[in-house]
Amino acid sequence: MAIPLEEVLDRAFGHPRGLLGRIGAAVMERGNGPTESKVVEVAKPGEDETVLVVGPGPGVGLGLAAARARRTIGVDPSEEMLRRCRRRCAAAIEAGIVELRAGTAESTGQEPDSVDVVLSVNNLALWSDRTAVLAELSRVLRPGGRLVLSAHEKWLPVSRHELVGELEAAEFTDVQSWTWDPPGRTASRAVQLRAVRPRS
Ligand SMILES: C[S@@+](CC[C@H](N)C(=O)[O-])C[C@H]1O[C@@H](n2cnc3c(N)ncnc32)[C@H](O)[C@@H]1O
Repeated sequence: MAIPLEEVLDRAFGHPRGLLGRIGAAVMERGNGPTESKVVEVAKPGEDETVLVVGPGPGVGLGLAAARARRTIGVDPSEEMLRRCRRRCAAAIEAGIVELRAGTAESTGQEPDSVDVVLSVNNLALWSDRTAVLAELSRVLRPGGRLVLSAHEKWLPVSRHELVGELEAAEFTDVQSWTWDPPGRTASRAVQLRAVRPRS
């Protein structure tokens, strides 16, 4: 019996698992790598900072953040993606620079005020409750910490401007948003957002 398209996409990209999850990982590595790189550039993690990567998938951005930051934590519910991240970042894990954990944006398992930067690429369309996720990400960021999000414009659940409003409602400040076209003819336009948890 044929698998419905929605289920194929979920197994490949949304909650990667099995053969489709492995194929999806290869597609994401190639297709989303430049966006992961751009998001790390925007966030500019410093060498004394801790970064939380929410939904790293195959771990391209996780590896790039780990090359700059003191400590990088990846949280993803997919065992297949955690395995890929483990393989990509084996040396950094061994050195205690990277930590991986099964978890979600809704429940990261991270201590309050414990990270300087939160990064998340192509993840927000999968959040069950954006208000709850933004509260969770604000909880784990230290005051003054920054959040950088990117998502395919075509898969956005609400408009870019509504997302800005949701970040402001969650009491983030200095909220900026823009669109970005990744290199390559087939790459789709991304919406990106940067925001800061206020200091007080
Ligand atoms: C479309 S992939 C994006 C992966 C990678 N960031 C990229 O852009 O290539 C979505 C990832 O988010 C994970 N994910 C799904 N639901 C999630 C949730 N509620 N919280 C955090 N991550 C989630 C999936 O397991 C998958 O690794």
